[in-house]
Amino acid sequence: MSRVITLDGPAGVGKSTIAKRVAEHCGIAYLDTGAMFRIVAKTLGPKNVAVPDEELARALASLSFSLSGSGGGTSLACNGEVAGQEIRTEEVGKLASDYATRPAVRAYLKKAQQDLGKAYSLVAEGRDMGTAVFPDAPYKFFLDASPEVRALRRVRQLAENGVIEDVAKVTRQIRERDEQDRNRALAPLKAADDAIVIDTSNLTVAQVFQTIAQALDE
Ligand code: C5P
Repeated sequence: MSRVITLDGPAGVGKSTIAKRVAEHCGIAYLDTGAMFRIVAKTLGPKNVAVPDEELARALASLSFSLSGSGGGTSLACNGEVAGQEIRTEEVGKLASDYATRPAVRAYLKKAQQDLGKAYSLVAEGRDMGTAVFPDAPYKFFLDASPEVRALRRVRQLAENGVIEDVAKVTRQIRERDEQDRNRALAPLKAADDAIVIDTSNLTVAQVFQTIAQALDE
């Protein structure tokens, strides 16, 4: 039987980095569900975000997700293609957050995520993994940090890749996306009652990983 470990939290908290490490530690795949919402946003574009649900459901039906590999080497493909850096911009993130309020999108991706969870053991990271998609997962974690800390981390990460961004602007964007993700009617961002909540503000990646690995090994 496959097993699922859930890892939820807000934008820029470091979920992907930690999810990859935990997946590597456990020898299983990791599922970046934010990437699924980003792929929907990038593929359907701004013009489809407000179309009626049935129309949206028809467009979504042409998207098929698959996983291969494990640990840090896991790759998620949509219709056989692995998405690149083009889905990683804050603009695509915001459009993904807009699509994420639509019932047709949530229903379609929830089913796709649950199907992948049946086929593979996973570290599933996102916003609603522990609350809505895998409520029976035996291990659930929720990472948190203030918007300022998350913005600073993101700006530093971008700077390492030669991209200079303004901290105040990134903080604003992160707050805006948090607000929308926490307050939407369907599957809002929140920790499951039985999740272990880790405030990562003053922790290194290694310390966060250690906390999770310890809980898993207990
Ligand atoms: O994690 P990432 O920033 O890539 O997610 C992009 C957006 O997709 C989020 O802001 C959120 O609105 C949406 N999302 C979601 N549920 C998930 C994962 C992502 O609603 N499980």
